Amino acid sequence: MDSFVDSFMDSFIKKLTKTYHRSVYPAVTPTRPELSQAGKTVLITGASTGIGYHVAKSFVQAKAEKVIILGRRVDKVKAAAESLSAESQGTKVVAIPCDVGSPTAVAELWGRLAGEGTRIDVLVLNAANTGIVKPLMEQGLAGVWEAYDFNVRAQFDMTERFYKQELGAGIKKYLIHVSTGAVHNFDATAVMPTYSMTKHAGALTLQLVAYDIPPEDMQVIIFHPGAIFTEAAESQGFTKDSLPWEDVSLAGGFAVWAATPEAEFIHGRFVWAGWDVDELKTGELGKRLKEDPNFLKFGVNGI
Ligand SMILES: NC(=O)c1ccc[n+]([C@@H]2O[C@H](COP(=O)([O-])OP(=O)(O)OC[C@H]3O[C@@H](n4cnc5c(N)ncnc54)[C@H](OP(=O)(O)O)[C@@H]3O)[C@@H](O)[C@H]2O)c1
Repeated sequence: MDSFVDSFMDSFIKKLTKTYHRSVYPAVTPTRPELSQAGKTVLITGASTGIGYHVAKSFVQAKAEKVIILGRRVDKVKAAAESLSAESQGTKVVAIPCDVGSPTAVAELWGRLAGEGTRIDVLVLNAANTGIVKPLMEQGLAGVWEAYDFNVRAQFDMTERFYKQELGAGIKKYLIHVSTGAVHNFDATAVMPTYSMTKHAGALTLQLVAYDIPPEDMQVIIFHPGAIFTEAAESQGFTKDSLPWEDVSLAGGFAVWAATPEAEFIHGRFVWAGWDVDELKTGELGKRLKEDPNFLKFGVNGI
């Protein structure tokens, strides 16, 4: 690693737990029986490629009953569903071409699901707008607002429709938001202020949703998946060799773990997938999570 990469990674990676994981590990392995998704229907936005695809793959490994993947490019989303189906041991994988940023398309999607009697147990909000890489005043309102519209309004639209479905008494919903370290580590990601700002606002929206809704009704978990080499990273000018990328298996396994009662203790909070979940649950960190309602939440530093 050269010194730029070293210092970027040092300033970017936040190691809250002593053990920092860079790939999937036993506690969040999707095939762990305690994480089984049997009988569950899972909907994942932006799952044709990248992190969303691997999240879908992990839910297939965890034996969900049905995994529905969304993406705009019809060929890509269909190809993804075919390759996931080929690996599936009983999970039905369905591709639905859908632009999550379009209010009409989102209304049609939920209308279609309701019409065919499909109820979603787990919603993974993964697709994002990565914004324009320029200072806010250089890009102006249009670019900033487009990203805000997707990373806040569209996420809330999906969340509201998910929450308001009738699942039947006592059936818990799981909402997982793929966030980013850019929502708090503003120095390291200073070149992409629109992304930081709008992903932060989207995550804060879900934090406040979780404030009002107990985890027994809808468990909400917001997480940074790690630095992963994907189409989005490539489009921002990174190459396979620019960073010591983390393994996407971690994000997939973490998302499955987050969709189980084991993760209820971090309802409404923001965490990194790399943080060891057993360390989070126990010891000083576990105590702080029990006692401090603001720990790992968005707010103002120093008060
Ligand atoms: N990669 C990283 O290092 C990293 C780090 C931190 C956080 N994240 C977060 O991880 C998530 C996924 O990132 P990624 O790197 O995997 O991105 P990616 O490689 O660009 O993949 C995004 C996926 O979402 C789909 N998509 C994009 N816009 C959509 C829309 N409007 N409606 C439906 N599907 C849409 C894309 O397919 P179509 O283009 O066909 O729609 C694609 O399948 C994002 O929330 C990002 O903020 C990533």
